[in-house]
Amino acid sequence: MQDPNFSIVVLVSGGGTNLQAMIDAVASGELPVTIQAVISNVEGAYALERAASAGIEQRVINHREFPTREAFDAELASTLQQLSPDLIVLAGFMRILSDSFFQQINTPMINIHPSLLPAYPGLNTHARAIADRASHHGASVHFVTPELDAGPVIVRGAVPVHGDDTPESLQARVHQEEYRIYPLAIRWFAERRLSIVDGRVLVDNEIRPEQGLDTPQPD
Ligand code: GRF
Repeated sequence: MQDPNFSIVVLVSGGGTNLQAMIDAVASGELPVTIQAVISNVEGAYALERAASAGIEQRVINHREFPTREAFDAELASTLQQLSPDLIVLAGFMRILSDSFFQQINTPMINIHPSLLPAYPGLNTHARAIADRASHHGASVHFVTPELDAGPVIVRGAVPVHGDDTPESLQARVHQEEYRIYPLAIRWFAERRLSIVDGRVLVDNEIRPEQGLDTPQPD
């Protein structure tokens, strides 16, 4: 079921290569949604230029201009309420959201994290996977809950870790999976094919192979 009126707002802090993958997927017809706006907490983030080039509204809410985390979160929440998208998409948004934010926002929210969750929540995931000599690493799209990197996983994409990998080379390989799985997860959501049963995300009422939830976990 295609719903061209389904709207997303994308939250970014940096380069926005995942945003670009979404823009490209929308342009090719692979992702039948409208990217309504892009919000950055960092002024001058390159993601904003990508949005501008695609004719997407951009907003900056600079967290440095707010006295507290809660004050920033309140402004972000009221901006999102005003935009009122169907889905909020975090794509390299480097802010931890406070409980007060979650109390103000009812809109579903998803994030992409560069690891095969539940392995390696938090930062420096590529270096940690290499240090652990993990056989596989990857990325996960998950629903956002107040607990960091812990919401139900929608889809994971795995890549092998090579013996001579640096964090940068591994990150580049993982990024290719990110660009594949994030538009896919958004599409499933927009097509209303996702449900959560006993904390697990089902697509069309089943765990589908393309969710990659049976891909290897780091040892
Ligand atoms: C991605 O690696 C994503 O997994 C993480 O932040 C990075 C964002 O990169 N959450 P980009 O801004 O999309 O290029």
